[in-house]
Amino acid sequence: MAISKTLSDELEKRRKIALDGGGAKKAEDRHAKGRMTARERLGGLFSEGTFQEFGLHAQHNTRYFGMADKSIPTDGVICGTGFVDGRPVAAFSQDFGVVGGSLGEIHAKKICAALDHAVKAGVPVVGFNDSGGARIQEGVGALSGYGQVFYRNVQLSGVVPQISVIAGPCAGGAAYSPALTDFLIMTRENAQMFICGPEVIRAVTGQVTTMEEIGSAQAHASVSGNIHFIAENDQHAVQIVHKLLSFLPSNNMMDPPHHIEPDLKIVDDPALDELVPADSKTPFDCREVIKSLADDGDFLEVMEHFAANIVIGFGRIGGMVVGFVSNQPTVKAGTLDIDASDKAARFVRFCNVYNIPIVTLVDVPGFLPGVAEERRGIIRHGAKMLFAYASATVPKITVIMRKAYGGAYLAMCSEDMGADRVMAWPTAEIAVMGAEGAVNILYRKELKEAEDKPAKAKELADEYRKEFATPYLSAGRLAIHDIIQPRETKSAIALSLRGLMSKRETRPPKKHGNIPL
Ligand code: HXC
Repeated sequence: MAISKTLSDELEKRRKIALDGGGAKKAEDRHAKGRMTARERLGGLFSEGTFQEFGLHAQHNTRYFGMADKSIPTDGVICGTGFVDGRPVAAFSQDFGVVGGSLGEIHAKKICAALDHAVKAGVPVVGFNDSGGARIQEGVGALSGYGQVFYRNVQLSGVVPQISVIAGPCAGGAAYSPALTDFLIMTRENAQMFICGPEVIRAVTGQVTTMEEIGSAQAHASVSGNIHFIAENDQHAVQIVHKLLSFLPSNNMMDPPHHIEPDLKIVDDPALDELVPADSKTPFDCREVIKSLADDGDFLEVMEHFAANIVIGFGRIGGMVVGFVSNQPTVKAGTLDIDASDKAARFVRFCNVYNIPIVTLVDVPGFLPGVAEERRGIIRHGAKMLFAYASATVPKITVIMRKAYGGAYLAMCSEDMGADRVMAWPTAEIAVMGAEGAVNILYRKELKEAEDKPAKAKELADEYRKEFATPYLSAGRLAIHDIIQPRETKSAIALSLRGLMSKRETRPPKKHGNIPL
């Protein structure tokens, strides 16, 4: 017995209405502004023919403000699963064309269903945020919906990767859902994210500002540090999602997608020997080192524009996915400050929770001196790095390229902080502080009495350097496992990574540590 035509037609009619969303006119308006529709975003994310939608026929149940008779196709959000590079991924995409993508009770339930599916199936989840926020007509139902989404964002954290694309407005408390996820990608022209907009700020505080200054992708990428990537447009945002997923495991019980060949054939890179300037105070770009180490020079830098004195990101070495953390000598001399500490510590914790080995490259003169840093809490923030590294149980490999002074030496994953393998270049200097600072303290009296103070200071600094500013003292005390030529770095790391593939490290059971926040 075949299905009746009436029933079949009814389904097709309903499907069409739901799939049309806000209608052709709204879709055209979006295209005119260089934006994709909610469905097009999912179409770009998933391999063709793999998207399975759920909740297509969802309807709101609001009775207030003339809503009783109003139909809201899909309730303003498209949810489902599909495949990205052959791997299953869950996603939701808010449809600004349908009541401004505003979030009501059913809209929230759909997002929650996508998140629940992601955790159950052990797959990453990608959310496209493009919404006027809490649906005003639904009052507390909308607020409660946000609460349920936030609650799940937290439950998923550390279980499956969560990636947010901010592709339109993301206002008020709504911004906290993406903020609870692992990576935020924001489109340059069409997205705004803020808790209080310029109008509210002016009304409450009298301060005059602009959306560009407080809520743009540029502001969040370079000043607030709220986002990880700027995308030029929706298509570019989807490309970044694809690239990011290519380095991530589907869940915390899996290894990341290593590309391991049985034979490890890595040739030395003599260019690295040349890269390091003879004068230890002359900066060099650590990205050059990272690109030399990463297979095919393929390095996905994360938070490129924020706290540029530290560089973080993903790549592969000898086929194994790694997270790179490197001081950047060209910015603030590579010192660690509050923002750099926050940036690196969070990244280390992400890598740890998703089984991604960490490669740390060190050239650090110390924590950034300054009244503002001390008053804003560099102690608390710097402690995050110590905490993150010491609690990470993934393979940790550290290469000391040049300076590694004081607390920053420890904060950059020294042997004492749990590094599994520490290698140093012959240019490495491990000391409590730099030579000039040290002689000023050690020889204050001699310098005061010296006839030619600068000459005496130089002589003492040279002596200090000869004694302390080499890797051999540390290697003698086994704080460094080997001293290598820069050109040998990639093969040394690759071999270490292979050797550590089955690393297991157990700690005493506890609810969670108390990281200084
Ligand atoms: C209901 C909404 C809506 C909302 C937009 N719309 N936001 N409907 N609730 N929150 C509807 C509009 O009525 C309109 O419907 C359609 O979406 C498109 O909106 P426009 O205003 O025409 O678009 P545009 O000019 O592009 O402006 C976009 C906007 C603006 C800047 C986002 O709509 C706006 O300011 N919305 C309110 C933002 C806000 O304050 N939200 C609450 C944030 S606080 P029609 O039918 O005309 O197409 C929040 C609390 C969360 O979210 C708390 C969590 C703890």
